[in-house]
Amino acid sequence: MHNAAFNALGIDALYTARDVAPEDLTQVIKALRAPDVWGANVTVPHKRAVLAFMDDLSDAAKRIGAVNTIVNKNGYLYGDNTDAPGYLRALADANITLKDADAVLLGAGGAARAIVYALLTAGVKRLSIHNRTPEKAQALATEFSTLGNVQALPDEELTPRVHGADLLINSTSLGMSGLHEHLSPLPAGLLPYNGFVSDIVYVPARTKLLKDATLQGLATQNGLPMLIYQGAESFTRWTGQNAPIPIMFSAARTALESR
Ligand code: ATR
Repeated sequence: MHNAAFNALGIDALYTARDVAPEDLTQVIKALRAPDVWGANVTVPHKRAVLAFMDDLSDAAKRIGAVNTIVNKNGYLYGDNTDAPGYLRALADANITLKDADAVLLGAGGAARAIVYALLTAGVKRLSIHNRTPEKAQALATEFSTLGNVQALPDEELTPRVHGADLLINSTSLGMSGLHEHLSPLPAGLLPYNGFVSDIVYVPARTKLLKDATLQGLATQNGLPMLIYQGAESFTRWTGQNAPIPIMFSAARTALESR
């Protein structure tokens, strides 16, 4: 999607993917300081480890505790996190009003952190985090408690809280292509009565959770818009230009369909 965007805007740049072993991280980051490098994206499992290598960090990266975008400013590396603004733009696309919303987040892993930050800074009324391992949900809620009303959701309160949710988000790996594809993160039949259902999984495009929600007449969104918008935010940080969003969507869809 980035190369399609560069082409569309006539920008002479190339985006390439690299598989980096943890022991090579120091060297790879050093190479990012070269004058012809604009920056990088960082993904699993290095998003947290790269924090220590940055010369400066955005507030979002600091608070989330993860960097997904590095900008090289004349050899000086600035670590940022565009997952949070990317997620908010995705929800804005679906006309979701977050101010005063009652939100339920499933999962408390790495992907949950940017979502918690995004939703609390956007002013949700309440964010309840439910996780298979409840201690992790509790730890996440405690860590972000200064940003808003966030609490861990015990099993016994899951049903009423999901029923009443304005927004339900899946950040677990359940539903993802592979091992967990046929699984939903919620017990059978449990969905919001009237809320929006967001799944950050984008392969497959329709997870079991999203299919169930659609069958019940609920509006849904998969993880593709978040993927595109976090990329678009990174693109702007590197180039100073607005990203050509429809071109990025189209390139990403083509790449995903040819997998
Ligand atoms: P990511 O960085 O993609 O969020 P992660 O940090 O490994 O990956 O987190 C995965 C999330 O999916 C966690 O919330 C995990 O729950 P645990 O904290 O209990 O491990 C959740 N998850 C993974 N497999 C699951 C399963 N079979 N049932 C329920 N939750 C699961």
